[in-house]
This record gives sequence, structure tokens and C-alpha cells, in this order.
Amino acid sequence: MSEPSIPYTGPERVFSGVQPTGALHLGNYLGALKKFVTLQDTHDCIFCVVDLHAITVPQDPKTLGHNTRKITAAFLAAGLDPKRAVIFVQSAVRAHSELAWIFNCSARMGWLERMTQFKDKAGKDKERASVGLFAYPVLQAADILAYKATHVPVGEDQKQHLELSRDIAERFNRDYNAPGFFPLPEPLIKGPGARVMSLKDGTKKMSKSDLSDLSRINLEDDADTISRKIKKARTDPEPLPESTDGLKGRDGAANLVGIYAALADTTDQAVLDEYAGKGFGVFKPALAELVVQAITPIGQELERVNADPAHIDKVLADGAQRARAIADPIMDDVRHIIGFWGS
Ligand code: AMP
Ligand code: TRP
Repeated sequence: MSEPSIPYTGPERVFSGVQPTGALHLGNYLGALKKFVTLQDTHDCIFCVVDLHAITVPQDPKTLGHNTRKITAAFLAAGLDPKRAVIFVQSAVRAHSELAWIFNCSARMGWLERMTQFKDKAGKDKERASVGLFAYPVLQAADILAYKATHVPVGEDQKQHLELSRDIAERFNRDYNAPGFFPLPEPLIKGPGARVMSLKDGTKKMSKSDLSDLSRINLEDDADTISRKIKKARTDPEPLPESTDGLKGRDGAANLVGIYAALADTTDQAVLDEYAGKGFGVFKPALAELVVQAITPIGQELERVNADPAHIDKVLADGAQRARAIADPIMDDVRHIIGFWGS
């Protein structure tokens, strides 16, 4: 869709969310958490544990709250500062559900039918998928726009959802004759860590739900486990090439080079400049050392944070209050724009 005639002129704000559906891994760290930590120095940031998204597929009520605390702990252990960034749980702020409903009436069936994540998650039997799973990206748009967030750090897999958020914002502004009311949020995806692949299959993304634990590095893994998983990562017998062109068709190798580049804050080409001609017998131990350096301090910090659930709950309660204070006046304006009684 084209740019709106009157652009949004409000302040910049960052929003992102992570589902409480299991332990976080290196992909989550490089695609999301590492960027969150950098952004809190330069932007107003809001980070959300998205439990309303989690229930689009069945969740056990006995573990949902526990998993929510665990993701919050990972935010803190990775270096988010709850005094600066707002850290909270989605279900604690009603604006998300309310705006999602309103956006359900702006979004179009055809837009949602194109979403590849729905097709992947619903599988063959899409008649049995929940309506919530279908409307998942609409709730995501509501998360972002309830705060008029302008920038959204995410991994590559969220690109299509972010495009939909822009379409919804634009459609709302146009349908209700409110030009520039909602910003068109911009994804922050770039960089070598945006798409970390499985260590066992370089064509599949690293995922919490992969049955093989060897496919991913968890933030909780100790140094030995990390080294063993990298040693076992599927690659090929060729030495590393001189340029990134030489990584084409070598998914396993390309993935490890990308992970190295993301952790060293450099580019794939710079990594190849250093390791061209060397085999994995040399490269894997060097990579393992980098991953251990980045991940094991977070694992240790996680243990410390998890030992104090009262602190986690305090962070979340305080975060919810601050989140409401931002979203409530925006929702008052939304109700007024739509013309709801009493607004
Ligand atoms: P999720 O665990 O699906 O809620 O994802 C949380 C964040 O991590 C999102 O920004 C995802 O895009 C990002 N993410 C998940 N898996 C990966 C991956 N394999 N590589 C890079 N980013 C990822
Ligand atoms: N859909 C995202 C994921 O699975 C999580 C998410 C929910 C999100 N709401 C968001 C990400 C808002 C960014 C902004 O990873």
C-alpha cells in the first residue's frame, strides 16, 4: 500500500513481544533480546510477554504463569533494565484485547489468508485451528499500536506480520478519516542474527518446538553442552570459502558463519576474511568459544533471577501500570475516533 498523505509525527517508541511458550534459545537472543538490550539505551522501549498470543494453541493453565515468569527472567538476565524499559505481561493490560477486536474489523480476510505462519502452524487441518490462531497477527498489530510504537525489533520470521501491522494502521487511519493517527511501524530486522537456523538442518529455523535439543542452543545450556552441540552441528567437509557467494547451497556452514558474525558484531564477509581456507575443525571451536562467552553469563544470571520470583512479579506489576498509563489515553482517542457512546 502507498504511504499515507499525512505522516505520523509523534515520538519514536520501540515495542516487541515474546511468547511464554518454552525456554529461549540463541535464535531468540540474536534475533530479538540482543537488539532489545541495545535499543533501551537510545529509545523509549516496551517489552511484552505475550500470553494472549500463546493461548492461540492449547496451553496448560498450571504452567502458563510459570513460563511467563521465565521469559521475564530471561529479559532481565539478558540485560534489560526495568527502570528504563517497560516490561510487562500482555493479559494484564486490557487495551490489547480491545484494540485487537477493533482491528479485526479493519483487517481483511484476504490479508490474513496470506500469512505463512498461520499456514505452517495450522498444518493440513486448518478447519480445526482456532479463530485466534488465524487472527494472531491482528493482535500483534494491536500490541504495537496500542502504544503508537514506531519501531519493532524482531527476527526475520516476523516480517510478514509487521507488514500486516502497517496495512492495518493505514487502513484504520483512512477508514476513520484520522490521517497520521497511528504510525506505520517499522520492523528492525537487519543483521546476521535475524534468522538463526537449526544446528541439525540448516534449512529450518532454530525453534523452541524442535524435538531435537541438539538443534538449538538454549540460554540455560552450560559451556560443555554448548561446545558439544556446536561440534555436532551439521556442516560439510569443505573448508570455508573466501566470499559469501561460496556459502550458497551450504546451509549448515552459512548458519555457523552467520552466528559468529552476529555474536562478534561484524559481517559474514569479515568472518570469512579471517577463516577462509580453514576447516570446521578450526572454526567450530572458535565459534563455540564465542557462544559460550555470550550465553553462559546469561544462564548464570537467569538462575539468580529465577531464584527471586517476588522480584519478577514486582517488575511485571510495575510494568503493567506504566504500560496502562501509555495505552489508556490512546485507547480513549480510538474510542472517540470510532464514535463509541460516551467517548
Ligand atoms: P517467539 O519465541 O516465537 O515468540 O519469538 C521471539 C522473538 O525471537 C521474535 O522476534 C522472533 O522473530 C525471534 N526469533 C525466533 N526464532 C528465531 C530464529 N531462529 N532466528 C532469529 N530470530 C528468531
Ligand atoms: N509474533 C511474535 C513471535 O512469535 C511475538 C509478538 C507478539 C510480537 N506481539 C508482538 C513481536 C508485537 C513484536 C511486536 O515472535
